[in-house]
Amino acid sequence: MTFVDAVTKAAEFSGIALPKPEAKSPEQVSHTQALYDINDKTCTFFEKQLQLPENKSRLDYFKGRKLSEKTIKKFRLSYAPDSFDLLLKHLEKNQANLKLAEELGLIQKKKDGKNFYVKFRHRMMFPFFNVAGKIIGFGGRELKEEQQPKYLNSPESEIYKKGLTLYGLYQAIQSIREQDFLILVEGYFDLLRLVEAGQKNVVASSGTALTDQQARLMARYSKNIYIAYDGDGAGIKAAIRNAQIIENQDLSVYIVPMPDGEDPDSYVLKHGLSAFNELLKKRTLPIEFQLDQYIKQNPNPSLEEKDHFIADVLNELVLFKSASKTGLYIHHLADRMQVSEAMLVSEINRLKQRRARFNKARKNNDTHEEKPQQERPAIKRGAYKAEEGLLALLLNAADETQKYVANHVSINLFENEDYAGLYDHIIHDIEENGKVDVQKLFENPDLNENQHLILTKLTIDQISNEMKHAIGCIFQLKKWQLEKEERDIQNHIKVDNSEEAQMHFTFELAKLNKEKRQLNKDYQHDLKLYRSDDD
Ligand code: GTP
Ligand code: MN
Repeated sequence: MTFVDAVTKAAEFSGIALPKPEAKSPEQVSHTQALYDINDKTCTFFEKQLQLPENKSRLDYFKGRKLSEKTIKKFRLSYAPDSFDLLLKHLEKNQANLKLAEELGLIQKKKDGKNFYVKFRHRMMFPFFNVAGKIIGFGGRELKEEQQPKYLNSPESEIYKKGLTLYGLYQAIQSIREQDFLILVEGYFDLLRLVEAGQKNVVASSGTALTDQQARLMARYSKNIYIAYDGDGAGIKAAIRNAQIIENQDLSVYIVPMPDGEDPDSYVLKHGLSAFNELLKKRTLPIEFQLDQYIKQNPNPSLEEKDHFIADVLNELVLFKSASKTGLYIHHLADRMQVSEAMLVSEINRLKQRRARFNKARKNNDTHEEKPQQERPAIKRGAYKAEEGLLALLLNAADETQKYVANHVSINLFENEDYAGLYDHIIHDIEENGKVDVQKLFENPDLNENQHLILTKLTIDQISNEMKHAIGCIFQLKKWQLEKEERDIQNHIKVDNSEEAQMHFTFELAKLNKEKRQLNKDYQHDLKLYRSDDD
């Protein structure tokens, strides 16, 4: 890559704010630096407070929770004194810009609108680091029951964005790279306990739902995520939900079963790291975990209950981008629920088609489960090109070609949901009125912005030798679809080596091969049939 690209990548990777002439002026850069600086000064102040003789009981708090000096230092664990102005005075003495300290949420204006008071008081402090090791914010744990909330966190600021941060990542990076997996826990103390015990590849999600960005942040260091959440109802729910978020970033994710009422902190304290490592070995795919939980709660489900549960799971699976993962999950589901796998496969295909239809009606502001178009993997481009080609033909081509396309294409041939939606509209028009009213299509409120763009492009596409183009596009898409099925089956074969499964899938492969031969034949046949004079 070019020098500029390399620097940009390196800066992004290490979380350093890169001065971009048009985006950030020198004043802004120094503003950011000043913010880091105030956080650092504040942290040093909190650390010193922790070591004061009069605060010995605070240091004892960490010691009581079995944390060593080394861990305290490494994570800069500290203490915010029980005072409205000690930190304020310290910052003033050090000529810190109080306006910036206010921006960081360290201090706040009093009712008089002139003077400040300190926000973190009488709390155990957990600084948050970015991946470059700069302090971007703080979490402060209560010391008395009556303090609310239990954890007070810095507000978001120019340098602290909650959804982009993972607690402990900075300290864990090297170990995550070495071990090529990452343990995701809920709480600060879960993380610190594991680190203390020697397990360093841990980050904490801090009790909330993960964001896609946080999942992608993990992906930079390892693609293997083990979720070790609390073994209570809330923890189980959060584990399943976050597993989905992680999974949709093309990571492989497992859930570590935590005994009822335990969290990694309590478990390691009681049983030691080796017992925790045994738990890690018992990690399961999220679907298995979900199945285990379900069966635990419903030991003897009625047919109706089973059906309900399966429908729920399938509705989640239909969102998965990876066909092989979906296949694997279906396999588990069939196995554990003792239902036919073939039935589940056809059911999920039906749901997928329905979703493609529904999508067209969905306004583009409601797309949280969809990734934007440009983020789709490049590998899909060939298929999309062919899908686009077919739509262009339906819009612009002569009657004969239009008919041919209409007869040989169905909505499930489309992978791209925007194209599928457009196809649905167009084919509906053709079936109803014998032709497409492009103007009306443009005015259709169901179309999203991307579909409008596609439509604009398609209506100006000039295609020469329309019939040959149509035959080629259809052949390509069908071929890709068969190849994808083939890969899915190959994956099944790899996963399930029971004799029965091997036989079943070998049979399926043979069927696919036959279909592929037939497709090739049809293709050659149609090419010949519709050959134009200039061919
Ligand atoms: P201990 O109870 O001392 O073991 O702390 P913990 O870190 O294990 O806390 P807990 O299991 O209750 O919560 C898990 C994580 O959720 C915490 O580490 C925090 O990141 C987050 N959390 C819990 N309570 C609050 C809260 O009141 N506010 C915010 N912002 N976060 C919280
Ligand atoms: Mn805890």
